[in-house]
Amino acid sequence: SNPDLLAAPPMGFNNWARFECDLNETLFTDTAQAMVNRGLRDVGYNRLNLDDCWMTHERATDGSLQWNTTLFPHGIPWLAKYAKSHGFHLGIYEDAGNATCGGYPGSLGHEEQDAESFANWGIDYLKLDGCNVFSEDGQPLRDEYRQLYSKWHKILSGMQDPLIFSESAPAYFSTNATDWAIVMDWIPEYGELARHSDDVLVYSGEGSAWDSIMVNYHYHTLVVRYQQPGYYNDPDFLIPDHPGLTDVEKRSHFALWASMGAPLIISAYIPDLSDSEIEFLSNKDLIAVDQDPLAEQSALVSRDSDFDVLTRSLANGDRLLTVLNRGNDTSKTTIPITRLGLDSGCKYKARDLLTGTVSTIKDAVDITLESHATSVLRITPPRKCTKITPTGMILNTA
Ligand code: DGJ
Repeated sequence: SNPDLLAAPPMGFNNWARFECDLNETLFTDTAQAMVNRGLRDVGYNRLNLDDCWMTHERATDGSLQWNTTLFPHGIPWLAKYAKSHGFHLGIYEDAGNATCGGYPGSLGHEEQDAESFANWGIDYLKLDGCNVFSEDGQPLRDEYRQLYSKWHKILSGMQDPLIFSESAPAYFSTNATDWAIVMDWIPEYGELARHSDDVLVYSGEGSAWDSIMVNYHYHTLVVRYQQPGYYNDPDFLIPDHPGLTDVEKRSHFALWASMGAPLIISAYIPDLSDSEIEFLSNKDLIAVDQDPLAEQSALVSRDSDFDVLTRSLANGDRLLTVLNRGNDTSKTTIPITRLGLDSGCKYKARDLLTGTVSTIKDAVDITLESHATSVLRITPPRKCTKITPTGMILNTA
């Protein structure tokens, strides 16, 4: 974790969930143009991240990685310059093992050389995937991951201009609670963000996109304590043009990720997003919460059959309330203000960050939500009621 390298969760674009291996230079230049023209860059989405399949199947004779010149006719260094001249940073993808998940050369045994290439190309962000990491000496696999990710940490952080390091290792252990916890423990030391769970459903995927979002949300709630300025838990991409999501679910996904202080990396065809999709992705109040300098992640404080209630503190002393209706029907819940660690008997100003409505709340707040909707309230305590009393997590109660 390095707050100087990444002071707030990264925001930008990645091709993977929308296009998988179907990426090229034009996709990135068109996306950059659209992000500028549609205002996304100016509200903070300033990264363009290449994912898997940008390279050739063989390394060059000197062992270096080569970009696919059919997909990137002007080359990656040109694209990095293009990004820079339009106000973006360019990020890239590699894998810690023998091969990437897509079957392209992995970085194993070429770590220094690849890091040099990326830096020379003008890249300042590396997502390091964890496919094809095998143990050769019979050591448990987790140790192999730790060795490789710590090696990359040393290389990247020791460079003249250190690269931001996005670690995918924990995602490879999410089905084994013990290994996962052990891996999560060393992750924040080595990098600035980490994918802790599986992929959100890709555009072409079969199954429920919402369920995939909820699985990652679930894992996200378990790693709250690791988040700190300079290290961010990553529950994977925003997928605002996914055909399997309703409008309510798209907004809810964004509101949840932003309210929890997660990376906001959009994997969608940005030139074709609807005006309303651009509008909710540009919500300045939610983006401010996402990028809040305290960098807290909202913690789950209660769960019943329908509702999750989460809360966190913000740098200016405000308290954030996030409510998610996981259930299948519209329903109402009442949340006592003490659940958020705030004192009863005070009058609080509450701003609904999705609607902009301002209200006054006293001892409790009533919230009615459609199925799968999220509501986010930014609560300002009066001066004499700023004390926060930590609360535990309670189940089956409002
Ligand atoms: C698995 C990762 O979790 C995805 O985000 C993507 O990078 C693919 N691998 C690429 O092969």
